[in-house]
Formats: sequence, C-alpha cells, structure tokens
Amino acid sequence: MKSTFIFPVYVLCTAYVIIMVPIIAENHCKVTTEKADCSHLELYTIPSDLPTTIKILDLSHNRLKTLPAANLSRYDKLHHLDVGYNTLHILDTALCQKLPLLKILNLQHNEFSKIPEKGFLYCTDLAELRLNSNGIKGITGNPFESLQNLNILDVSHNKMTTTALGDKEQLPNLSELLYSHNMIGELRKEDFMFPFNNSVQKLDLSSNPVKEFQEGCFQKLPNLRTLIMANMTLGPKLTEKLCSQLPGTQITVLILLNSQLTKIYNTTLKGLESTNVLSLDISKNFMSQIDNNSFIYLPNLRILNLEENQVSHLTSKAFKGLSNLRYLNLKKFFSSSKDSKIDDLSFQWLQNLQYLNMEQNKKIYFSEFTFSGLTNLTNLDLGGCSFQTIRNETFSSLSNSSLISLNLSKIDLTKIESRAFYGLKHLEVLDLGINQIDQYLTGQEFEGLHKIKQIYLSYNKHLSLTRSSFCSIPSLEKLNLRKTAITFKSPSNSLFQCLHNLTHLDLGNNNIANIDEDIFSGLHNLRILSLQHNNLARLWKKANPGGPVLFLKGLQNLEILDLLSNGLDEIPAEAFRGLSDLKILNLGENNIYVFPQSLFADQESLLDLDLHKNLITSVEENTFKNVLGSLRNLSMGNNPFDCTCESIAWFADWLNKTNTSVPGRDSQYICNTPSNYHGVLVKNFDNSPCKDHAPFMALFIFSFTVTSSLVVFVLLLNFQGWRIKFHWTVLENKILGLTEIDLGDRNFEYDAYIIHAKKDESWVYRYLLPLENGRQYKFCFEERDFEAGESNLQLIVNSIRNSRKVIFVITRYFLNDQWCRRFKVQQAFQQFIVDSRDSIILLFLEDIPDYKLNYSIKMRRGMFKSRCILEWPLQNERIGAFQQKLKIALGSPNVVN
Ligand SMILES: *[C@@H]1O[C@H](CO)[C@@H](O)[C@H](O)[C@H]1NC(C)=O
Ligand SMILES: *[C@@H]1O[C@H](CO)[C@@H](O)[C@H](O)[C@H]1NC(C)=O
Ligand SMILES: *[C@@H]1O[C@H](CO)[C@@H](O)[C@H](O)[C@H]1NC(C)=O
Ligand SMILES: *[C@@H]1O[C@H](CO)[C@@H](O)[C@H](O)[C@H]1NC(C)=O
Ligand SMILES: *[C@@H]1O[C@H](CO)[C@@H](O)[C@H](O)[C@H]1NC(C)=O
Ligand SMILES: *[C@@H]1O[C@H](CO)[C@@H](O)[C@H](O)[C@H]1NC(C)=O
Repeated sequence: MKSTFIFPVYVLCTAYVIIMVPIIAENHCKVTTEKADCSHLELYTIPSDLPTTIKILDLSHNRLKTLPAANLSRYDKLHHLDVGYNTLHILDTALCQKLPLLKILNLQHNEFSKIPEKGFLYCTDLAELRLNSNGIKGITGNPFESLQNLNILDVSHNKMTTTALGDKEQLPNLSELLYSHNMIGELRKEDFMFPFNNSVQKLDLSSNPVKEFQEGCFQKLPNLRTLIMANMTLGPKLTEKLCSQLPGTQITVLILLNSQLTKIYNTTLKGLESTNVLSLDISKNFMSQIDNNSFIYLPNLRILNLEENQVSHLTSKAFKGLSNLRYLNLKKFFSSSKDSKIDDLSFQWLQNLQYLNMEQNKKIYFSEFTFSGLTNLTNLDLGGCSFQTIRNETFSSLSNSSLISLNLSKIDLTKIESRAFYGLKHLEVLDLGINQIDQYLTGQEFEGLHKIKQIYLSYNKHLSLTRSSFCSIPSLEKLNLRKTAITFKSPSNSLFQCLHNLTHLDLGNNNIANIDEDIFSGLHNLRILSLQHNNLARLWKKANPGGPVLFLKGLQNLEILDLLSNGLDEIPAEAFRGLSDLKILNLGENNIYVFPQSLFADQESLLDLDLHKNLITSVEENTFKNVLGSLRNLSMGNNPFDCTCESIAWFADWLNKTNTSVPGRDSQYICNTPSNYHGVLVKNFDNSPCKDHAPFMALFIFSFTVTSSLVVFVLLLNFQGWRIKFHWTVLENKILGLTEIDLGDRNFEYDAYIIHAKKDESWVYRYLLPLENGRQYKFCFEERDFEAGESNLQLIVNSIRNSRKVIFVITRYFLNDQWCRRFKVQQAFQQFIVDSRDSIILLFLEDIPDYKLNYSIKMRRGMFKSRCILEWPLQNERIGAFQQKLKIALGSPNVVN
C-alpha cells in the first residue's frame, strides 16, 4: 500500500526535475529579490520565467528586435527597464500601459532613427528616458507630449541639428536635458518649447558645432542652473555672446572646458554680471591672456578652474573682484614653454581663498610678495613647481595666513634655510618629498611650525640628523624619511627624543647599518615604524660585540613594524619583547632560518605576519602556535621548507585547517627537502607516518641517552682518568679505615719536609729556611739535617712520615732530577694517599705546564687544594705575600674532604 503511493510521487518529482532543469539553465539571468540581470545573454526574446515581483530588469546587450508589451505584462511591478544595446526600432505603444509603475526606461544604443510618435503615449509617470546613441536625426510631431513627469531626457550622441523636441510646449517637469554629441549649430529661442514654469536645471550641449546663440535663446529656461559647453569652438567672441544670454536664468555652474577660449578680455564675461555664477570651469582652453578686471563681474564666484592653460604673465589685477573665491585651480596654468611671470600681489584680491592649486608650473618665479593677501588660505599646492632653496622670506607673505597644508614635493629643492617656514603657525601638513634636499638638519629649519603634525621628507638626496633635528617641532605625529640616505651627525641614541607625540615613523630604504639601542627612546606613542630595506642584520647577531642591540625596546604601543629586506639572519629571543599591541609584522625577504622559541611570546594579538622569502626550513609548534592562533593573514611563501615530521608536520596540518588567509597557499608553500618531497606543496605533506612516531621517538631518546652517556664516560676516563683514579684511591682508603686517626693532635717531628732539586738548594737556603726563624717552624732539610748529606732511604721515609707537610720546590730541574722524582716524590705521594693527608704543598718557582708535571711526577694541579699551590712571584715586593700564603698552607689541616 505504502510503496504504491510513494512510487508515483517519485516519478512525478523526477519528471519535474528533468523538465525544469533545462528551462532554468536556458536563461542565465542573475536574479535577486528585486532585480533580474539578463544582460549579455544573446537573448532574442524576453525571458518569461522570472519572478513576477522583480522591480529592475536588465535586458541590455542582447539581440532583441522588438519589445512586445504582452511578454512584459507579467512583470508589472517593474520600476526600471534597461533595453540598451539591442536592435529595437519600434516601440509598442502598450508598453507603459502594461508596466504602470515604470519610472526609468533605457533605450540607448538601439536603432530608433525616428522617435515613434505614439511610443510614449501612456508613459505619463516615466521619470527618466535614455535615447542616446540611436542615430535620431530629428523629432517629428510631439512624441514626448504625454511625458508629464519626465525628469531626465538624454538624447546625446545622435544626429540632431536643433534642440527642438516638438512644436508645442510640453515636458513640464523636465530638469535635465542632455544634448551632447549632436550636430546642433545654433541655439534658437523657439526650439526650447517648455511651459513657462518648467524646471529644466541642467543643459548639456557639449561637443556640438554651435556657431550662434540667438537673442533670448535661454529665455524659456528660467531655472537653468548648470550649463555644460565642453569641447566646443566658442572662442572669446561667441563666449561673450553666450554670457550675454545668461542673465535671466539661475545659472550657477558654467562649464566651458576646452572651448577655444584663448583670451579672456575685460568684456568676455561681462554678461555674467547679473547672474549668480558660483562655479566656472575654463580649463584646457590654450588660454594665453587674462586681461585686468576680467572677473570683476563675478563677486560671488566660489570655484574657478583654470587648469591647463598657457598664460605667460599673470597681471596684478587679473583676479580683481573675486572676493568670495574659495577654490582656485591654477594647475599647469602657466606656459610650459617659456618663463612666465606672476606680478606681486596678484592674489591680494582673494581674501577668502582657501584652496590654491598651483601644481606643475615649472617656469614661474615666486617672489616674497606673490602670496600676499591670502589670509584665509588653508591649502597651498606647489608640487612640481621650481624652488631650489626655501629661504626665510620665501613664504613670509603667508605668515599671517591660516595655512594648514603646504605641498612642496617635486620642486627641485636642494636646501631649506633656517626659519624657512617661520610664521606658518597653523601649518599641520608639510610635504617636502621627492626633492634633492642635501643637508644637515639642525632643527632651525622647522622653527615656528607650532602645530605641525606631519612632515614628509621621503625621497631626498641626503639628510644628516642629530638629536636636535626635530626639537623645534614637538607636536609632530608623522615623519617620513624614506630613502633619504640618512646619516647621523652624532651618536644615534635618542635621535627622536623631542617627538613624544610621534605615531608614524618611516625610515625605510636608507641602508642604515648602525643604530644605537636607544635610538627610539622617548617614542612612547609610536604606532607605525617602517625600517624596510635597511641593513640591520649585524645588530641582531649574537656575535655582535656587546651582544644583540635591542633597538625596539620601549616601543610598547607599536602596532605595525616593517623590517622587510634587512639581511636579517638572526633574531634575538627578546627582539619583540613587550610589543604586545603589534598587529602587523613584516620580516619578509630576509635570511632568517631559526626562530628562538619565545620570540613571539608577546605577540598574541598579531593579525598579519609576513615571513616570505626567508630561509625557513621548519615551522615549529612551540614557536609559532601562539602567534598563528590569532592571525588574519600569513605570508610565509617561498621558503625552503623541510618536509619531515619534525620540521613541518604541525605546520602542514595547521595550513590545511586554518581559516587564516594564506595567499599563495597552493603555489608558494613548497617543500625543498627531503628529496622525495622536493617540489611538493607543504599542505599536501602526508603526516600520517608522523603519528606512529611517538614510541620510536621514546626508544630513540632512550638509546641515544645510553649511548651518549657511555661515550661521555669513556671520554671522561680517557681525559680525566687520573682524577677519577685519584679520588677513587682516596675514597678507598677512607672506606677501608686507613684514615689518619689523630689528625690534628699527632705530634710530628717536623712541620715540613722539603723536596727540591740539587740546583735549587740555594733558593731554599735563601727563602725557605729563614721562615724557621724564632723556632716558629721546623723544616726537615736533607742538606742540613741529615748527616753529611748522607742519603739514607729509610731515613727519608721516616722523615717524611714525621713531617706534617711536604713541600715540593718545583722547577725545571726538579722535574729532571731523577732522585727527587723517583723516590722522594713517590714516598710523599704514598703518604698522601695512604694517610689521606692533604699534606703536599707545591711551590712553583717557574711556570710549569700541567702536562709536564703529569709526565714527570704523575701529579696534576687539580689534585690539590688551591691554597696548597703557590707560585713564586716575579716581583720582590710580593715576596711577603708569598710567605704569608706559605704560612697559611703550612698551617692548614691535613684532612682530605
Ligand atoms: C506648472 O505648469 C503645470 C502645467 O503645465 C501646472 O500644473 C503647475 O501648477 C505649474 N506649476 C507652477 C509652480 O506654476
Ligand atoms: C577694458 O579694456 C579696455 C582697453 O583694453 C579699456 O579701455 C577699458 O577701460 C577696460 N574696461 C574695464 C572695465 O577695465
Ligand atoms: C631672513 O634672514 C635674514 C638674515 O639671515 C634677516 O636679515 C631677515 O630679516 C630675515 N627675514 C625674515 C622675513 O625673517
Ligand atoms: C601631544 O598630544 C597631546 C594629546 O593629543 C596634546 O595634548 C599635546 O599638546 C601634544 N604635544 C605637543 C607638543 O603638541
Ligand atoms: C592536507 O590535505 C591534503 C589534501 O586535502 C592531504 O593530502 C594532506 O595529507 C593533508 N595534510 C595534513 C597535514 O593534514
Ligand atoms: C574555521 O571556521 C569555521 C566556520 O567559521 C569553524 O567551524 C572552524 O572551527 C574554524 N577553524 C579554525 C581552525 O579556527
């Protein structure tokens, strides 16, 4: 029962899938809730399966020849229909009937050479109609008559010869009318047929061969605000005519870009006298001359654009009357071929000017009065002009202005003199980059810049810095010194000591090799430090005399640190200690191959880490786990990774799973070694064998430990065997109970027995025996105490046994003396061991190496306490001290411990 029910459902579903899939696949429209984008699909018909709720339908760039209203009727919620770039030439009258909500209709790039007279009959609600690029030659009848609510009409790029849109008043709500790129030769009064109250505000007539403006041609456009006449052939005369027709309109923006206005006479703009033009664009006109008093008719002008002209002499009254001008663009305004001149006080009329752009005027000379009168100027751009030297008077005319930003980049500057900017007390941004400055900055150059926040000095020839270089500008926040061949006039410590508010410092590309640990001291607010392309490798080497130089210490607010390409091969473990706010760290393009384990201990909030192109072979968990955890971006490509379990397993696993963005993960992370992995992607490293590694590892560690202990033992035996043997013997004696019983109290006959070579006898007489003086000590001295120098072996043995100490007087002769060596020494040594007595005192009369001592008498210094080894001083005045030491040695207890 159950299965018979399910089966037909299954068949139905399958059938549905089979039927539906091709239909969905046929139109590849991108559909979102509001919009269906069916552009570029080579459609011949309107797709009929789109959601009926869409508001925007884009059918542009297809092959539609007709637009049957019936096919569109199911999308009756449409506001916006774009059928541009098709081959339509007729319009279904019912279109707007079926799409009652349509507001925007785009018919550009079709084939409507004639506007169908009834095409827009029902489009009373249409607000925007685009008919550009259709080859329309003219309008017959009144096709736009019913477009009561049309706002924007675009008929540009057609072949129209007049502006006429019909022969009766219509389009009461039109505000933008775009006619550019047509063939209109004359503007006639009767061609603008609009109801008297119409609202056309913007008229674009660019790129038309207009040769005549009929009297009153703008009369029907009383609300005209923006008139665009770019790329025309107006010239001074026609411009004058044009201006004379504009009174009576609301004109505020007039664009005369590239209209062959080669000269402005004092009458050219006269017609604008009773208008309210606020913005005038006369750029790119090859203009060579502006007469005095040319702008006196425009007291309300706010924006004047004169960019790219060829004026060779700006006279002092040219700008007279522009008392409300805020923005003046004189970029490339002066002749580029010959030296040009600005009369002094030319800008005196512009009391309200705020922005003056004079970029790229290479051939003008600025005097100390050029800028006089610009009291409200805030931004001055002189980039690309020519200055060479800035003297204290160069900008003195601006000393009462409110200048905030001054651009002096690319001005061929070689020197800034003292107090060059004195008086610019509101200046915040000073750009001196890309010049040829070559000088020692004493600090006086910037005097008077009380509010300066940013100085850009990058890309200059050579700057020599000292601790006072920036002391006149403690308010500085950003300092760019990239590629300035920096040298330090004095030691570099505390170079920036005065800049407590500095947040950005760029010292990149300077080939700096030598800086002090304290170079950045005082920069508590520094957030961005760029040191890329320097030569700091030596500073971080262990072998650096005095140890690694930790020049980053104290920069606790650092967020971005760039050390790209510094030749770094070692990083001290403490290099980044304390930099706990670090977000971006770039160590790319260095030679780093090992990372101390705790290197990144403080970098838990790092977001971007760049280690590309180093010599990294292994990425170890202990070092990197902490820092990779929080990372947003990692760049570690192009390193010679060693794809073995120990080196890479953890990283390969991380790389496979991480959500961190790792650009080049599939191309730049390639194993170098071992040979069977050479060329394989790190992320494809097979780490399954590594998991079975643990027991083997333990075994390995165990056997390694045993083997190496053995080796150490053997080596020890070989090189330190005597010591072991000696202490063993001493220990043995102790354990076997052979220890001297009454160590301190036993009565010895002598305090010391003296063993010496025959040749040293005189020394003994002279320096040792006198110590007996006053019966303080009693020495056993063979030559004196034995009968006639008789050498009785038993006597010697007994004497040694009856002496508390035995003194060896060691010289070359002693080592060569058979008698001493063979017998006496042996005897004494035997006593020393058998009795466990610390009884031997070595007196070295000359420097005898240990190996010779061992070779001759089988003893080493290391067997004896240091107080029992004495050296005869070379200087006489130290003999007293020697004797004192000897007395201490003689008095020391005999216990071995
Ligand atoms: C503008 O003219 C239309 C008729 O074309 C009229 O309905 C409207 O009230 C007029 N508006 C003004 C402000 O005169
Ligand atoms: C305009 O220039 C002419 C001579 O070029 C001069 O006679 C006339 O006074 C000037 N007009 C004004 C307003 O400066
Ligand atoms: C510029 O410096 C010179 C001397 O160096 C001085 O005589 C002159 O008064 C200074 N000018 C200004 C405007 O400070
Ligand atoms: C440094 O910055 C602080 C806080 O913004 C400000 O109060 C202080 O005046 C600045 N110091 C200088 C010398 O401008
Ligand atoms: C990473 O993934 C690849 C394929 O997705 C796999 O071959 C490789 O074994 C994985 N490596 C690790 C370490 O998980
Ligand atoms: C990556 O993101 C996914 C989904 O946001 C999350 O489930 C997964 O745990 C993340 N993986 C890691 C390694 O953070």
